[in-house]
Amino acid sequence: MKRIGILTSGGDAPGMNAAIRATVRKSIFHGIEAFGVKNGYQGLMDGNFVKMHVGSVGDIIQRGGTVLFSARCEEFKTDEGQLQAIEQLRKNGIEALIVIGGDGSLMGAQKLVEKGFPCIGIPATIDNDISCTDFTIGFDTALNTIIEAVDKIRDTATSHERTYVIEVMGREAGDLALWAGVGAGAESVIIPENDGDFSDVIHRLKRGHARGKKHSIILLAEGAGSAIEYGKKIQEATELETRVTVLGHIQRGGSPTANDRVLASRLGSSAVDLLLEGADGMMVGIVNNQPVEHLLKDVLMKKHHTNYQLYKLSKELSI
Ligand code: ADP
Ligand code: F6P
Repeated sequence: MKRIGILTSGGDAPGMNAAIRATVRKSIFHGIEAFGVKNGYQGLMDGNFVKMHVGSVGDIIQRGGTVLFSARCEEFKTDEGQLQAIEQLRKNGIEALIVIGGDGSLMGAQKLVEKGFPCIGIPATIDNDISCTDFTIGFDTALNTIIEAVDKIRDTATSHERTYVIEVMGREAGDLALWAGVGAGAESVIIPENDGDFSDVIHRLKRGHARGKKHSIILLAEGAGSAIEYGKKIQEATELETRVTVLGHIQRGGSPTANDRVLASRLGSSAVDLLLEGADGMMVGIVNNQPVEHLLKDVLMKKHHTNYQLYKLSKELSI
């Protein structure tokens, strides 16, 4: 292995830069040339490659976003797009690719593998919705951003004796809402993995109000429905003054937490180790605090399961 490519794709996630830094530095440490691919799969198809040096990844470990930029590229989903990308890689003498991104991006990597080009995936998305890894890069930072926002909303909720429905990201997954609900002490958490629990939400709100609670916080995962609709239904059912906040893309930005920086550094380094061992078509995740590799095709076939123990705990602690 003499020359590898590295790309970031899909929704950006804090810690992607730390992963880029680790893959570049670890490659150079082993005498492998590293090329950054700009703009995700679009840049791969266009041959938008830039040689990376030790200094190219200096001063980025603390920065959110991705210095290689990201893209959502429909054309790459076609066979022609994938073959064009492989042609560009081969033309530039690149022998393997490390893909840093969410499930869509890892699916893109698997398509390249199926067409004969070696790839290793690193899970990076704030959603934490990928199987075979306990955490994805960016989840911890987004979670901390949400908790900071909820703490601030709680102040004004208390002053005005209001109920707040706070909608957080996560696509079809409820992990951000669930972990933030436990971490910020929300009254209720509404997640797609467990909807149909609306009567319980109302029961908890009424019970809290009856014992003199000044505010209530409900964390809603975007995949479970619209905060505006839930806000209306809750106000109607409880007659409590209800407000809605949709946190939006603030959850995707910001300096990565220590956990995300360390996770990204470990997974980036492990991805290069895998290439050195001759592995192909694998994703390296973190399981029980150890980097563990799985076949990409298995990762993509299996569904990520949310932590039901944590869901139970959120209910037990918000009585
Ligand atoms: P994420 O990686 O964050 O889940 P997306 O689902 O938007 O983000 O995927 C990012 C990109 O990965 C897409 O724009 C596309 O270029 C590529 N991709 C997604 N799904 C596929 C697929 N089935 N085949 C090939 N490429 C795909
Ligand atoms: O996958 C990351 C994510 O932020 C999801 O939580 C969210 O549903 C989606 O991306 C938003 O995508 P966009 O950046 O296209 O608005």
